[in-house]
Amino acid sequence: MRYPPTVIAVLCIAALASLRAEDQPKLPDPGKPLELTSQEDHKKMLEQLKIKELRRGADGNNPKAPNAANKDESKATPYPKLPDPLVFDNGKPVRTADDWKMKRAEIVEHFDRDIYGRVPKGVPGVTWTVKDTTKDKVGEIDVTTKRVIGTVDNSGYPHIKVEIQLTLTTPGNASGPVPVMMEHGFVFPRRPGINPPPAQKNGPKPWTQQLIEKGWGYAIYSPYSVQADTGGGKGGFGGGGAYQGLTTGIIGLCNKGQPRKPDDWGALRAWAWGASRALDYLETDKAVDARQVGIEGLSRFGKAAVVTMAYDERFAIGLIGSSGQGGAKIMRRNYGEKVENLAGSGGYHWMAGNYLQYAGPKTPEDLPVDAHELVALCAPRPVFVSVGSEKVEGTWIDSRGTFLAAAGAGPVYKLLGRKDLGTAEFPPETTALIAGEVAFRQHEGGHTVGPNWPVFLTWAERYIRTPAIQVPARQPAGK
Ligand code: GCU
Repeated sequence: MRYPPTVIAVLCIAALASLRAEDQPKLPDPGKPLELTSQEDHKKMLEQLKIKELRRGADGNNPKAPNAANKDESKATPYPKLPDPLVFDNGKPVRTADDWKMKRAEIVEHFDRDIYGRVPKGVPGVTWTVKDTTKDKVGEIDVTTKRVIGTVDNSGYPHIKVEIQLTLTTPGNASGPVPVMMEHGFVFPRRPGINPPPAQKNGPKPWTQQLIEKGWGYAIYSPYSVQADTGGGKGGFGGGGAYQGLTTGIIGLCNKGQPRKPDDWGALRAWAWGASRALDYLETDKAVDARQVGIEGLSRFGKAAVVTMAYDERFAIGLIGSSGQGGAKIMRRNYGEKVENLAGSGGYHWMAGNYLQYAGPKTPEDLPVDAHELVALCAPRPVFVSVGSEKVEGTWIDSRGTFLAAAGAGPVYKLLGRKDLGTAEFPPETTALIAGEVAFRQHEGGHTVGPNWPVFLTWAERYIRTPAIQVPARQPAGK
């Protein structure tokens, strides 16, 4: 007798299911992550690139060293010509907003291939779970804080587990979904809201309190929960003596524990990817107005913040703090930290392997793009570039190079009908260039965003709408 195909299918499935686990064909185990020190991993990358030697970076600590970091403006521009963001690689001009879409893709491809590296195809999915919710106060205002975990599907390589850490704090009295500033920062064990950063002496209130009082929320996302801040080795921040490096974390998970190829993503691109996944979560949280989520970070997390905003056009606004080399600072300049520093074994893990070529045999002049084009990728969305006083913060970050990255994005903002900084002159300290959608201010403090938060928020009010804060209804008199 003949069975209909559905019956045959059911029988086959039942027969397969009856196979015991040990009878099932096994895929070869790709093995545990390769354990390398940063120096070993760096060397392997140089071998892949066939680079014999890199030029030395600048010494930021010893002003008497032969390679002491430059702080003489007259020596800062060995390569004065910047790539023009409004000229295609083939020399044709970029004239319209439609042209810009194509030019934008061209710039992204350069950053992908040579600077930050590519996000691989098929990065596993993330499942978000709210771990706990607490009620608390920030200043005088009731808030709700959620701790949220994003578990990355590691069924393709169970040796590596990635759990993205995020906290979200929103005012309890909001009448609707609120705008949120997300910070690349440190999440656990510090509890925002419960244990907010200390107020600066004589400075403004903590940024978290400024946001809550304005009716906004804040989220803190942990880049280090996505990718460790090292090329390889044991120990280090959050490492707890366990091995961490580019063969672990999200990068290692995608490479099944093997080292990177030259155009694979580095930590900055991975940190930015994680921030995008955190925004995926915020899009599902009813307390948040996901069309009004901004991104912020300081220093290496300032670099991560500008990369996040440049790549993910869902972020509505950005505050980029003292991001320095590899962030919103002209890479070609020889002032403070140089390309050669980030190409060394202490910083290369932030970048794509291909970036190393620009520290030998190529030079920063050969870079196909520069940081003003990274800022331009944020256009037309409002972005505020922040830096501290050279007298307090020092010269390593390069405040003028930071200004020039913001100024150089201006033509793209203007092409898209927005306003630029309004000047090509580096302004005196504490001048707020906040008339346009690309903004800049060098504050009077050190390596912090602190003093610029109130200025940022005043400027941001032009773009971000806050729902009314609900004031409890007064009881009628006599009742
Ligand atoms: C070092 C590094 C910088 C980085 C900074 C930080 O100074 O050279 O590029 O921005 O650390 O993140 O604190």
